[in-house]
Amino acid sequence: EQSLRVLADRAGVRIGTAVDTTALAADAPYRETIEREFSSVTPENVMKWQLVEPQQGVYDWAAADRLVDFARANGQTVRGHTLVWHSQNPDWLTEDAFTPAQLRALLRKHVIDQVTHFKGRIWHWDVANEIFNDDGTWRDTIWLRNLGKGYVADAFRWARQADPQAKLFLNDYNNEGVNAKSDAYYRLVRELKAQRVPVDGYGIQGHLAVQYGVPGDTLANLRRFEALGLQTAFTEVDVRMPLPADPIKVQAQAQGFTALLQACLLARRCVSYTLWGFTDRYSWVPDVFDGEGSATPLDADLVPKPAWFAMRDTLTLA
Ligand code: G3I
Repeated sequence: EQSLRVLADRAGVRIGTAVDTTALAADAPYRETIEREFSSVTPENVMKWQLVEPQQGVYDWAAADRLVDFARANGQTVRGHTLVWHSQNPDWLTEDAFTPAQLRALLRKHVIDQVTHFKGRIWHWDVANEIFNDDGTWRDTIWLRNLGKGYVADAFRWARQADPQAKLFLNDYNNEGVNAKSDAYYRLVRELKAQRVPVDGYGIQGHLAVQYGVPGDTLANLRRFEALGLQTAFTEVDVRMPLPADPIKVQAQAQGFTALLQACLLARRCVSYTLWGFTDRYSWVPDVFDGEGSATPLDADLVPKPAWFAMRDTLTLA
């Protein structure tokens, strides 16, 4: 059988997965599956600010460096995730401890130091993650409250300055189809482009659930961002379901994975399709959604589900 990565190479896209670096070190079958099946990796957690700078001024790049070295040894690209976010920030980073001017200086230093540390080794950076609410308003975050909306443009400029080769992405969930949130991104990208802010890509996480289905206008949404000159990418695909699984949910899951993959293959500038984990052995879903799970295409024993074969069939056709 052909691996996903061989088929994706032929189709001209990168196929990726989020990587749990603890599992990567401890679990050989997990590691071998990543080597064999994927051409791109994303650190699930170890490039987040909380993990790279646990104490102010004390960087810990070790886990992220190991993943980047692993990727290089296996001919895989790395999607850097993520530079500016409202979540998983260090405990020391609070509004009480710093003035807005200090927070801006801290953000600037964080972006520049991190992008510089990995310079030349990162294919895509998720520069700004989850900046809008589902209704298209700006998410209320430490950055918006203290720096105003300009923090997004600043972050992209700092990242470009630190590594001119890396492609710089916006990234969010519930933005697959044309809706209030993706409309907000569309308007923002037009503004950023008009101000010559270096934004290169629109990232769609793709966290689906069988009970909500797949937005039918995903391809149209990709196309409108590509028409603005951006690349597009699916960055965190999984398809969860209410447990227990049954054959209809499992079939719907396979359709969810392939619907997003088809949209990527039908678009003109969709460059990668990344899973947010590939096995139920390690998945964030049951911790966050009560009673839901089975969100990845391999079960906890690494046995393929219909979703795995469906993705392979889709890549074979492309
Ligand atoms: O590292 C600590 C460990 O020291 C501690 O003992 C343990 C006890 O709870 O927690 C560990 O941290 C956890 C971390 O994952 C690493 O495993 C956090 O509690 C947990 O909240 C964290 O969850 C991550 C989540 O982002 C945080 O928001 C998930 O693994 C990760 O899959 C998830 O990924 C996000 C993307 O970055 C952005 N898009 C949505 C996606 C899913 O939520």
